[in-house]
Amino acid sequence: MPHRLTPSAMYASLHSYLDELVESGVEGLPLADLELKALAPQALDGADGACQEGTPQTLAEIRTQLGDCQRCDLAATRTKLVFGAGNPQARLMFVGEAPGGDEDRRGEPFVGEAGAILNRIIGAMGLKREQVYICSVLKCRLPANRHPHRDEIERCVPFLTQQIRVIGPELIVALGTIAAQTLLQSKEPISQLRGQFHSYHGIPVMPTFHPSFLLHHHENKGLFWEVWDDMVQVLTRLNLPVPEKKRK
Ligand code: URA
Repeated sequence: MPHRLTPSAMYASLHSYLDELVESGVEGLPLADLELKALAPQALDGADGACQEGTPQTLAEIRTQLGDCQRCDLAATRTKLVFGAGNPQARLMFVGEAPGGDEDRRGEPFVGEAGAILNRIIGAMGLKREQVYICSVLKCRLPANRHPHRDEIERCVPFLTQQIRVIGPELIVALGTIAAQTLLQSKEPISQLRGQFHSYHGIPVMPTFHPSFLLHHHENKGLFWEVWDDMVQVLTRLNLPVPEKKRK
């Protein structure tokens, strides 16, 4: 009888085989292409078999598939999973890194200090939070705000992929290094990526500084203006009016 693998098991097996080859010094394999496919909107399976029940058609169905997610170690330390919030038909989507302490307690994205800055950015753009969709690459808090591990991103990203596919935004703002590098399959720092449009499977992506970074460097007003310049490009691309701001 032929040995049949599910698509997700096949993907996991192929991925680990390619990882082994690369680690043993083999060069020139199309690993980047493979990773890109894991991020493609039509990809249904996480490496662990996430989203196997079928293609979700709504955000509620994606949330149901996530369930009481135990796919990585972050489940043990989270209080609430933070799925995302906002307009399910948003033209504009903001993608952050991972929930912080306030978000973990409330189960809502960007409701802490970084959220207050994101609200200011959205307000300055002449928009309301309810008009856009906000979520993060990781749906669970990172203990002690450490950097995410690669396997945590790989297990969570299929759900972000599905959120993007279901919402179908015209434009994505990637907030900070992790969101930008994950969506764009890049290793470039955010300072290099920001300020120009990239593409996530045809959807324009504007990387910009994470609100937490602005918070930690609040004395550097130049950073705020750089973010504003990025948002001006976003508004212009969406054919939305650009509110005038005076630089002192
Ligand atoms: N930072 C993020 O990247 N996401 C949140 O939801 C909150 C803070």
